[in-house]
Amino acid sequence: MRRSRTPKARGTVAKPKRLFVTGGCGFIGSNFIRYAFTHRSGIEITNFDKMTYAGGGRNLVDIQKHAKYGPRYHFVKGDIADNKAVCAALEKGFDAVINFAAETHVDRSILDAGDFIKTNILGTQVLLEAARQLGVPRYVQISTDEVYGALGPEGYFTEMTPLAPNSPYSASKASADLVARSYFKTFGMPVLITRCSNNFGPYQFPEKLIPLFVTNALADQPLPVYGDGMQVRDWIHVDDHSSAILAVLEKGRPGEVYNIGGGNERANIEITKKILAALGKGESLIKYVTDRPGHDRRYAIDSSKIESELGWKPVREFDEALADTINWYVKNQAWWKRLQSKEYKEYYLKQYGQR
Ligand code: NAD
Ligand code: DAU
Repeated sequence: MRRSRTPKARGTVAKPKRLFVTGGCGFIGSNFIRYAFTHRSGIEITNFDKMTYAGGGRNLVDIQKHAKYGPRYHFVKGDIADNKAVCAALEKGFDAVINFAAETHVDRSILDAGDFIKTNILGTQVLLEAARQLGVPRYVQISTDEVYGALGPEGYFTEMTPLAPNSPYSASKASADLVARSYFKTFGMPVLITRCSNNFGPYQFPEKLIPLFVTNALADQPLPVYGDGMQVRDWIHVDDHSSAILAVLEKGRPGEVYNIGGGNERANIEITKKILAALGKGESLIKYVTDRPGHDRRYAIDSSKIESELGWKPVREFDEALADTINWYVKNQAWWKRLQSKEYKEYYLKQYGQR
């Protein structure tokens, strides 16, 4: 590593142009890269991704082949927990790091938490340290509302809500947030943290609720609803999450946390019935199964800080965005069928076989 200096934490910076995005082959990372190229001029993006099972969807083929964006898009295969690989890639010089890379599926973290601890906690620390040593002037940690735990029927998560994660996944994300916070407090590094609610949209791996239920319904397979199906999530279209990340990247205050939510609280069973109706399938496909252990009952986000400080707000209307998303999976069956590999089928059997 050539340089060793902690960048000074500053407020608004000149719009970052050279972005180092980790986990850009996954659902939100790939949508963010596409959104950033199409909504900002003159940017260049390096995508550093390990290509785990969740990163194998070739989600950015259109960007790679694009006459204008392709030459400004670079891919490096690597693990954020691998110090040498991270430093070698980061040494090229960047205006900002945006860390999407993570193990992300709660159910998998219940089956085996090992990779969650390694990637989400150790990987974040390795990335922070490399960015600090190389003086990268901005670091955005993509976190989640799940770090706050669960809400009862009333109230919202604010940035002041105490961290109370309930799954190995959310515990690993909360740990990463604390490590990121410490790099701001101890070293004055310009770290910003975003905590978003449940995303939906194209290119989401078919293990998550919406794509799983759409793809199962298309195959006339049961839709496994956990418990009573009355758990509530606050849904946001992935493009609204991407616009929020750009706002935090460009205008956020270092050391701050920004909550991001769609303002679309829906019970799982309501989403399930909407999917079936949109596909013309009967509700007999609904199968109530044993609940997820430690299942969080309700998430709801107070986004007033990012709205008032950074002027961000979501623009996608829920029903219309859900219909678009369902149509995307209908039209792109080759995309998700490729991902239903032998490993995926084994996971599915382990996860749902005994339920
Ligand atoms: P995803 O599972 O679809 O993609 C994760 C990506 O990270 C994959 O491309 C994978 O190959 C890569 N990756 C995994 N381990 C890696 C490692 N060690 N080194 C480098 N790359 C690695 O995830 P997603 O749903 O797109 O989530 C992206 C981020 O957003 C995560 O940090 C997640 O916690 C956060 N988040 C997700 C949601 C949601 O609803 N999906 C909501 C809020 C926050
Ligand atoms: O809130 C943000 C989080 O949203 C992200 O941090 C996570 O990475 C992301 O996976 C998501 O977590 P959830 O656990 O909320 O998402 P999931 O799609 O797994 O489940 C959504 C809801 O649907 C949840 O209440 C569990 C339920 N569910 C899920 C599956 C996969 C079912 O009832 N049946 C299922 O088969």
